[in-house]
Amino acid sequence: MTMPMIRETIVTTAGADRRVHIAPLGIIADGAGWIIAPFSPSTTLGNLRAVPFAVANHIDDVRVFAGCLTGRHDWPTASSEQVPVPRLSGALAHEELAVTGVTEDAQRPRFHCRVVHRASHAPFAGFNRAQAAVIEAAILVSRLHLLPRDRIEREMAALEIVVDKTAGAAEREAWSWLADKVRGYYVGCGRPGESRDP
Ligand SMILES: Cc1cc2nc3c(=O)[nH]c(=O)nc-3n(C[C@H](O)[C@H](O)[C@H](O)COP(=O)(O)O)c2cc1C
Repeated sequence: MTMPMIRETIVTTAGADRRVHIAPLGIIADGAGWIIAPFSPSTTLGNLRAVPFAVANHIDDVRVFAGCLTGRHDWPTASSEQVPVPRLSGALAHEELAVTGVTEDAQRPRFHCRVVHRASHAPFAGFNRAQAAVIEAAILVSRLHLLPRDRIEREMAALEIVVDKTAGAAEREAWSWLADKVRGYYVGCGRPGESRDP
């Protein structure tokens, strides 16, 4: 079976108190709609149960991806058209989503969503390899507790070459936040490259 396409977006949700929450999530193509699959426990999961709407923000400012993984959660938002959840002001385009059903799972329930509104705000500016590298590094950072240190450091080193060759200022800043987080995670665990595992 071929796996469905996944689009890396910034998902905004709202809590019962209407506070917006901003998190990178890979949304899964599902016919004309999307599936959001947040791990349990997470704020995104709690919010989707409290307020069954979300916005998929398509954004090329990768500082938002890197920022959310490094404690920088506050990004400018604006009101949506059809759902009670704000969108990111910096999104090139966004899709407003309404939850139509939930496939329950203890680790990772799946929220099936219908697109109730979509809008474009700025043109797609073309591909940039450093942006893709930052997203890959953000995924590595979200898995620091799961992956062996030598694999993390090997993959970060390969991605850093791409960033050095192709980044603009925003990508460089995003990269520095992620690289600092990786370094900080291993502080006190021996010299760089040395695995904690025997
Ligand atoms: C590109 C990218 C895709 C991600 N996709 C998912 C996802 O599909 N589900 C998930 O639970 N976390 C995903 N994560 C990790 C979440 O962003 C992170 O765990 C986040 O803190 C969610 O928890 P929160 O809702 O409590 O903030 C992804 C991270 C990145 C960088």
